[in-house]
Amino acid sequence: MTKITESVDLDRRGHVAVLTVNNPPVNALSRHVRQGLHDGLKQAAADTAVHAVVITCAGRTFIAGADITEFGKPPAEPSLHAVLDLIEGCPKPVVAAVHGTALGGGLEVALACHYRVGVKAARFGLPEVKLGLLPGAGGTQRLPRVVGAPKALQMIVSGDPIGADEALAHGLIDEIVEGDLAAAGVAFADKVLREKRPLRKIRDLGDKIAAARGEPEIFTEFRKSVARQTRGFRAPENCIKAVEAAVTLPFDEGLKRERELFLELLDSPESKAQRYFFFAEREAAKVPDVPADTPAREIRKAAVIGAGTMGGGIAMNFANAGIPVTVVEVAPDALDRGLGIVRRNYEATASRGRITPADVEKRMALIQGTTDWNAIADADIVIEAVFEEMPIKKEVFARLDAIAKPDAVLATNTSTLDVNEIASATRRPESVIGTHFFSPANVMRLLENVRGARSSKTTVATAMAVGRRIGKVPVLVGVCYGFVGNRMLHQRGLQAEKLILEGALPHQVDKVLTDFGFPMGPFAMGDLAGLDVGWRIRKGRGVKSPVADRICELGRFGQKTGAGYFRYDKGDRTPIPDPDVEKIITEVAAEQSIVRRHIGDEEIRERLLYPMVNEGAKILEEKIAIRASDIDVIWVYGYGWPVYRGGPMFWADAIGLRALRDRMLAFKKQTGDAFWTPAPLLDRLADAGKGFLGG
Ligand SMILES: NC(=O)c1ccc[n+]([C@@H]2O[C@H](COP(=O)([O-])OP(=O)(O)OC[C@H]3O[C@@H](n4cnc5c(N)ncnc54)[C@H](O)[C@@H]3O)[C@@H](O)[C@H]2O)c1
Repeated sequence: MTKITESVDLDRRGHVAVLTVNNPPVNALSRHVRQGLHDGLKQAAADTAVHAVVITCAGRTFIAGADITEFGKPPAEPSLHAVLDLIEGCPKPVVAAVHGTALGGGLEVALACHYRVGVKAARFGLPEVKLGLLPGAGGTQRLPRVVGAPKALQMIVSGDPIGADEALAHGLIDEIVEGDLAAAGVAFADKVLREKRPLRKIRDLGDKIAAARGEPEIFTEFRKSVARQTRGFRAPENCIKAVEAAVTLPFDEGLKRERELFLELLDSPESKAQRYFFFAEREAAKVPDVPADTPAREIRKAAVIGAGTMGGGIAMNFANAGIPVTVVEVAPDALDRGLGIVRRNYEATASRGRITPADVEKRMALIQGTTDWNAIADADIVIEAVFEEMPIKKEVFARLDAIAKPDAVLATNTSTLDVNEIASATRRPESVIGTHFFSPANVMRLLENVRGARSSKTTVATAMAVGRRIGKVPVLVGVCYGFVGNRMLHQRGLQAEKLILEGALPHQVDKVLTDFGFPMGPFAMGDLAGLDVGWRIRKGRGVKSPVADRICELGRFGQKTGAGYFRYDKGDRTPIPDPDVEKIITEVAAEQSIVRRHIGDEEIRERLLYPMVNEGAKILEEKIAIRASDIDVIWVYGYGWPVYRGGPMFWADAIGLRALRDRMLAFKKQTGDAFWTPAPLLDRLADAGKGFLGG
């Protein structure tokens, strides 16, 4: 065996040279990997005893993409293009032998090879679109030539990988192999030699793209089919254009077009935001004083208290991850109701073909309902999701303290109550933490883990680890009213209410936010969540919100009653502006002597979003969030902030904090309202010409 570079070896097996990449953890295409492939291939090509080459990888996967540590740095030679040219131009057959995932540049390497084989569990994908980019090393030109334009469009625009069976069916791989992968690759290469198969260069394949050339409607229809989910993103359209180029242009011109379209994306604010967010999400997993090697409790069994809206969804997360979970309710009927909803949820998923009927039973079998508290005695984590009332929460925690095993993590799903006070109901506050799930809890990815003043490092480490294990994106926050997400949302809500009194209407306010990229605006969101929830909380706290209160007094609780801020046709969730609501608004405005005026969209956007940023600054200064990018992760995963705008803090930096702060001061001058006082941190950063994210 010859070591070509630190990460690439060359081995000879009979007449076949085997190039093995070994660059843990995911065999990313670092400079030394490209160099190794380049030099190894040259050696193999020059060696007369070598008749064919196999490219394969050590460790758990084939090459799974670019080396993210090289992002943003000047490109280092050899370029991936040069390596791919060398592979494709090799006068001896080159076979890629794939296990794990061939992703991005990794799949582009495989596509430059003359043949591809893979193990049954291998997966193949071009996920660049998820970073606002397109596969820029020939992926958009080669993939359609091998799998056809429709499949290539679907793979490149979704960024989702396909499995080996599908890859074989579409011609992406030539064979599914078993046993030792390198040996299987060599056996396949031997077969190619024996059968004297030609060097099958994908660039020269014409059949599948010729078929697409005759059907330009493929592209029109595809654009239509993805319009909704790609709204606001720039990369999907460039991906489609690149595949169109593959169909209409000769290979080399197509490559040039791919390059142009790639560079356009690389420079786009959308991709910059998406790439920023990719790192923000990884960063959110890190807690500075709780290093990755902090011992976490092993979670073999979970328990959830309360089988209501949230409890049922939380239990589903555990069952989905294969963790048995006990659900405790006060009475059998509440339990039946709660678990009935869980079952119906699973059945709905099965009817859409996303899981099998057997999966439904398997998951339901992992969820044990009971009214007997002793059933939680062996749970490693207990998550409380009962009514949002402090005395009830404290009673529940005192009971948990008495029954749960000594090293269990005791978590509360409270959205507004003080986690420290809840912890004080136990003799083990170090084991107590908030796990704030978002509704619907089985769907929403965000998990705000709320660190109490006395939560131990092990408790924190466990909540973060279990969050990831059940498929969530956990972000650690501190104790305050509303934590990070809802606290910022509240500021937006205050302005939304003022805006409709001053002259805007709910549909105009909502449209500004949906145009911005949110899935819905504050009023449609209120209607979806149910206006009665807030109404009840306001009544309890003696707070008024005149328009919302009056709407609720009419029994208009939102979608569930067919009317709220909007009205709804039966069986349809489309919000329809309602003159009755406009009347309520104008009446309340008149009572408050507000002279309604026209309010432009820009003012609406600024008044809704700048106060959120300002609150974010306070949250940072109070150390409720560990870092500005965590706030962005919370908003993207919990509230649908468009990822192509990075998140509120990234977005604010892009506007420039000085401009944003000065606009707040202008609103303050105009209204005399202390609400618009810039947070000290915002003020300082604006004066210093800096941003929240440094720089
Ligand atoms: N609904 C949301 O959107 C949302 C979002 C995030 C957090 N939360 C929080 O989650 C918690 C639960 O909210 P929800 O919307 O699921 O409420 P819910 O009213 O739908 O469910 C609460 C359930 O708890 C049960 N329960 C009450 N006391 C109990 C006790 N002592 N022992 C066992 N079960 C008991 C009730 O029977 C009921 O089924 C609250 O703290 C809430 O603030 C709710």
